[in-house]
Amino acid sequence: PTIVVLASGSGTNLQALIDASRERDFPGEILAVGCNRPGAFALERAAQANIKTFVVDHKKYGSREEFDGALMAELRRLNPDVIVLAGFMRILTADFVRAFRGRMLNIHPSLLPAYTGLNTHQRVLDAGDKVHGVSIHFVTEELDGGPVIAQAEVAVQSDDDAESLAERVQQQEHVLYPIVVRWFCEGRIQLTADGVQFDGKLL
Ligand code: GRF
Repeated sequence: PTIVVLASGSGTNLQALIDASRERDFPGEILAVGCNRPGAFALERAAQANIKTFVVDHKKYGSREEFDGALMAELRRLNPDVIVLAGFMRILTADFVRAFRGRMLNIHPSLLPAYTGLNTHQRVLDAGDKVHGVSIHFVTEELDGGPVIAQAEVAVQSDDDAESLAERVQQQEHVLYPIVVRWFCEGRIQLTADGVQFDGKLL
């Protein structure tokens, strides 16, 4: 199966996926990496790995719909089996998301449904939570709200600040995302009307 990864920033999750895709038995091929920011370091990482890149610069579009239209055109051309959002910091329109229902994944640094949105690490610290983590979910119209596929927990330490907590969460992201993308490419994960199925059983 073919994969397109969309990123906006440093691309450490992309790097984890690139590294995993190099393993002989990895069932997916990263066709291209798309970014909405021309300066995203994720583009560098893709280039280093000889993976095609494209940029749809959101500053060049007057509306969210126009941006999504341009991004949609690129994705229709590439026609991947799965779109992997890896630190992609754009809110996609409902039409866009619907077009890829069941084959677009996202990673979010919290134990969803808690802490949708931004600055999750600081919010967890402010709330005094003892457990934090990362969630990988199907993308649906609801921001950070799609059916969860997998989560990893990270214990909050008393001397943590947002930085140190983010570091440990990202370590888990880099382990979990390649596993989930592998499972998806192996056909083991489906989004059905009843929710997420793994090996045919509802999670
Ligand atoms: C990650 O923490 C991810 O959970 C969130 O944005 C960050 C992206 O980091 N969506 P990177 O660009 O993959 O390094």
